[in-house]
Amino acid sequence: MSKILILYATTDGHTAKIAERLRRALDTAGQAVTLASVADHPQPDPAAFDKVVIGASIRYGRHSPLVSEFIDRYQQALDARPNAFFSVNLVARKPGKDHPETNPYLQKFLRRIAWRPRRLAVFAGKLDYPRYGFWDRKIIQLIMLITKGPTDPQTVVEFTDWGQVDAFARTLAEM
Ligand SMILES: Cc1cc2nc3c(=O)[nH]c(=O)nc-3n(C[C@H](O)[C@H](O)[C@H](O)COP(=O)(O)O)c2cc1C
Repeated sequence: MSKILILYATTDGHTAKIAERLRRALDTAGQAVTLASVADHPQPDPAAFDKVVIGASIRYGRHSPLVSEFIDRYQQALDARPNAFFSVNLVARKPGKDHPETNPYLQKFLRRIAWRPRRLAVFAGKLDYPRYGFWDRKIIQLIMLITKGPTDPQTVVEFTDWGQVDAFARTLAEM
């Protein structure tokens, strides 16, 4: 049985939900999954696992700096075992920006880090206006206006393709 670490960085809980979905699928495939937040103290040591998966959401164009710090600190251990990375963002709801090769945030992130994840995924995130503070809501509404997305402040929508998440889980199981 493989021991897998899924480490996630989340602000509003959606990346944690995707990580939990991956955990359940991998659990069903007979793999032992540990879920951890990058904000946990102490952080888990990747060297204690057979495979490592890292997932993070985008907020104002960036993944959490805690993620790049974790990657820098543990890059040797990451490189020494099967590993993967996934990004969660709203731009990925758009056809043409919904693949690792075409998602601008993931591509920019890969240019900034030395680690080369062996498997990559990008998932469309969740829009949840009622949850946001005033200015975040205004700015996201503006971005949605420009990118032809929903602007009604009552909108709560998960753009995530859960079938795509399950397919990624199968890829991880086979790694
Ligand atoms: C304040 C804020 C800023 C965001 N900035 C971006 C952005 O720059 N680009 C993007 O595609 N999505 C952006 N998003 C959308 C999030 O990536 C999306 O809601 C994701 O599901 C959040 O995941 P989390 O709950 O795990 O943090 C933003 C969301 C919020 C609330």
